[in-house]
Amino acid sequence: MKVRIYKDAEQAGKAAATLIGAQLIRKPDSVLGLATGSSPIPIYDELIRMYREGAISFAQATSFNLDEYVGIAEDHPCSYHYFMQEKLFEYVDMRPDAIHVPDGNAENPQAFAAAYDWAIERAGGIDLQVLGIGRNGHIGFNEPGDHFIRGCHVVDLTESTITANQRFFENRDQVPRQAMSLGIEAILKAKTVVLIATGKDKAQAVRDAIHGEITPQVQASILQGHPDVYWMLDEAAASLL
Ligand code: GLP
Repeated sequence: MKVRIYKDAEQAGKAAATLIGAQLIRKPDSVLGLATGSSPIPIYDELIRMYREGAISFAQATSFNLDEYVGIAEDHPCSYHYFMQEKLFEYVDMRPDAIHVPDGNAENPQAFAAAYDWAIERAGGIDLQVLGIGRNGHIGFNEPGDHFIRGCHVVDLTESTITANQRFFENRDQVPRQAMSLGIEAILKAKTVVLIATGKDKAQAVRDAIHGEITPQVQASILQGHPDVYWMLDEAAASLL
């Protein structure tokens, strides 16, 4: 695994965006796996800047987002659909029909999840997967547990994730208790993984994932088995390495 340490979140984000920009230049019709949360925001800011400069284009790219809450509307300001529009898609030339985000309100979630995995396979798999990491070591919403879950699935969020994500909502009661998340298989099959982690709250999870045992209790530790992972860290997130 390639561990890169930057002064702050902005520098880490810019460097991660450069990797994604390089991917789009090398392969304009790349399949991108995209993530939400506060960590990737500097990445999207920089990608928008690169697009405006004419350095990159998303016109031929396809995207699949990692996860979405269950039970809130797509146009809810805390939904990941909304997040992606607001932080990236509104400002770049991605074709609307090339954008995919799990449907947290699917009538038949299991059928939707299976179709989502299949759509990724049909698109040729993910070329580059952007990831954040939860304070409990989760990737996407693959929460700590006694096994890794292969496919896209509905998950009960842990108390620690509900607490961590409370800051985006008016109060704790409003935080959804479930989400739909890509499983570990599609993430591991991505040709390249770019994980961004910033801030001291992430330091323990980063350390456990990189140097700890490979265990479903720290879902990101499975990335030790991936041949092309970039850990893009700021000094705070790297402070326990
Ligand atoms: C969220 C998302 C993850 C994200 C993580 C960290 O709940 N499901 O995809 O990586 O938690 O979020 P943040 O970057 O805001 O700390």
